[in-house]
Amino acid sequence: MQAIEIEKLLDSPDSTVFQGTSGCYLPLDDDWGVKFFYCESSRDYSYDQQRYYETMRVAPLTGPKVKFTYQGEVHYGYITEHCQCCDTAVMEYHHTEIEDGRCEGCDYFDLTAGDEYDSFLMDNPEWGDKYFELKGRLESHNIRFNDDHAGNWGINHMGEPVIIDFDKSSSSRV
Ligand SMILES: Nc1ncnc2c1ncn2[C@@H]1O[C@H](COP(=O)(O)OP(=O)(O)O)[C@@H](O)[C@H]1O
Ligand SMILES: [Mg+2]
Repeated sequence: MQAIEIEKLLDSPDSTVFQGTSGCYLPLDDDWGVKFFYCESSRDYSYDQQRYYETMRVAPLTGPKVKFTYQGEVHYGYITEHCQCCDTAVMEYHHTEIEDGRCEGCDYFDLTAGDEYDSFLMDNPEWGDKYFELKGRLESHNIRFNDDHAGNWGINHMGEPVIIDFDKSSSSRV
């Protein structure tokens, strides 16, 4: 995907950009998306970490780096496999939506890391089992999932659980 095509998609009112605290994510189609950052070094850190975890099959597939302009600023990104993110499933299960990082009447982090998240994992073994599979695989590779909440992992096209957030605070190699 060329930078110009990403810029066009970002300008389109039909596109949804997922705003994280350090990075953003734009789904491109059912298979791929672009993860992007303000800062080139943050992009490079995330890219390198994802490439490394990909070799252990605990990360989405990683595509090429791309540089483009968004809201008048240069942004640095890379193409990544689009996964089914656990946070979407949690929100669907609890029939709620997140707006600007918070959902109505409920703390975002309660939904993705608190009681609502625990009950979701218990009641939905197709996710609960994948979560424990991911934890086991990470442990076997000596990876610590520091920012362990529903917005930071998902299921790839092979049906495998993977981390999707690779910023500095998300995980570490122990
Ligand atoms: N590969 C992906 N597939 C599907 N959704 C993703 C992917 N990467 C990120 N997202 C979505 O974008 C959100 C923000 O991305 P993330 O990398 O966690 O940013 P941050 O580091 O700022 O938390 C995620 O919570 C998730 O909803
Ligand atoms: Mg995140």
